[in-house]
Order: sequence, then C-alpha cells, then structure tokens
Amino acid sequence: MTGTSVLAANDVHLSYGDTVALRGASLELTSGERVALMGPSGSGKSSLLHCLAGIIRPDSGEVTLEGTRVDTLSERVRSRLRLERMGVVFQFGDLVPELTLVENVMLPLQLLGRKKREARLTAMDLLAALDIDDVAGKRTGAVSGGQAQRAAVARALVHRPAIVLADEPTGSLDTVTAEVVLDAMVSLSTQLGAALLVITHDNLVAAHLDRHVEMRDGVVTRAAQVLR
Ligand SMILES: Nc1ncnc2c1ncn2[C@@H]1O[C@H](COP(=O)(O)OP(=O)(O)O)[C@@H](O)[C@H]1O
Ligand SMILES: [Mg+2]
Repeated sequence: MTGTSVLAANDVHLSYGDTVALRGASLELTSGERVALMGPSGSGKSSLLHCLAGIIRPDSGEVTLEGTRVDTLSERVRSRLRLERMGVVFQFGDLVPELTLVENVMLPLQLLGRKKREARLTAMDLLAALDIDDVAGKRTGAVSGGQAQRAAVARALVHRPAIVLADEPTGSLDTVTAEVVLDAMVSLSTQLGAALLVITHDNLVAAHLDRHVEMRDGVVTRAAQVLR
C-alpha cells in the first residue's frame, strides 16, 4: 500500500565547511506513516531532519512537502510552511521559558492568526489529552522534564500539522518517562492524522513506530524494514 507523499528528501547533499554530513540521503514519508530514523551518532540524522523541516537548505538534492518542492523557496516561505504544515520537537523541548505551558502551546495558533480565546481552548484540550492540564499555568522551569516534553509534543501538534519531526525527543528523559511521552506523541499524532518521524538511538522507542530507517555516513541505508 502506498500512501500520498507528505515529506520527502531525494538525493540530498549537505556539508558544513569541510565536514560532509549528507551524501545523497533519500527518505519519503507518506500520510500518517510513523517512522523511526536510527543510526550512529554523526551519521547525519539531525542534518537530514533539518533539511526536511526546511531549517537548513541542502547543497543539492530536493525536498518536497506534500508533493511541492520546498528547498528552492526562500527562508521566509519555508518558515511559514513549517509553521502551517509541520510540528517539530527537539530533545530539550525548546519551550519559551518566560511563557506558561499553555501559552507555549497556544503560540503556533496565534502565529497563524487564530483568536487568543480559541487558541487557549484548543491548547487546553491537548494538554488535557496529554494529562498535563493541571500544570498548564506553570512555566517550563516549574514542571518536570516529562511534563515539559509533553507540552512540546502538544505545541508540535496543536495546529494539526501534516507531519511531526522529532529529534531524540525522549533523549533526556528516564526510561519510564520516555515511554509516557512517546506513547503520547504516537497516539496523538495518529489521532490527529499526522505522520511522524522520530530520530532515536533507542530500540524501545523504535518499537513504537511502524517503519525503521537506518542512516550510515550521510546516507539512508535501510529504508523499508517493517517492524510490525
Ligand atoms: N553545525 C554544524 N557544524 C559543523 N559540523 C556539523 C554541524 N552539525 C553537524 N555537523 C557534523 O555533521 C555530521 C552529521 O551530524 P548530525 O547530522 O548531527 O548527525 P547525527 O544527528 O546522526 O548525530 C557530523 O560529522 C557532525 O559532526
Ligand atoms: Mg543528532
């Protein structure tokens, strides 16, 4: 069964000065697909995610979002597309420390022009679904790492993106908390119809996802191992 292409990298090359990070990496995610991106440290996983998210423009190759080429677009247009169609989660959440959890989750909606009241209601719904509505009014410094990461997951999904990209989202959490956060991210993405790409070193994490992709030395070496 082949679904509609949501996000794809085709033969992407990227160097940072003399360091070659990507040497012809290709990866495609179809709608609703849930993929684990694995491989040793330094193999180019984060670089590929940054190219897919439009944060970095590759030196060559193509990135397409929902069938439209995006790597050739300006930084401003790529940022806008990321805001509209993607959600991104990093290892350390990247929440705004001056804002409360609910304000952080409201942010994408407000940037997209939604009314504050509506944004708050939508954000609170998600926080409740993730079982952290009780700490919605607290700042990131006053909640646990797992609660902050769940808020980061909520922020990535609140605007109903086509895809969520997560770079070691549970890498700084203990095993039990990581399991809770990951479960939440997988089930909520599925519920909201978002595809999911998760970079992880952890086989337990990968076991939650449907497909397992491996990178070595800047290329995707195995791209279709179905886990279950
Ligand atoms: N900002 C950067 N500046 C210079 N080199 C970088 C930068 N980011 C990554 N690299 C290098 O690019 C290669 C791939 O890194 P990365 O994409 O972070 O791999 P991974 O996420 O799999 O650990 C590594 O050799 C790394 O040292
Ligand atoms: Mg990395």
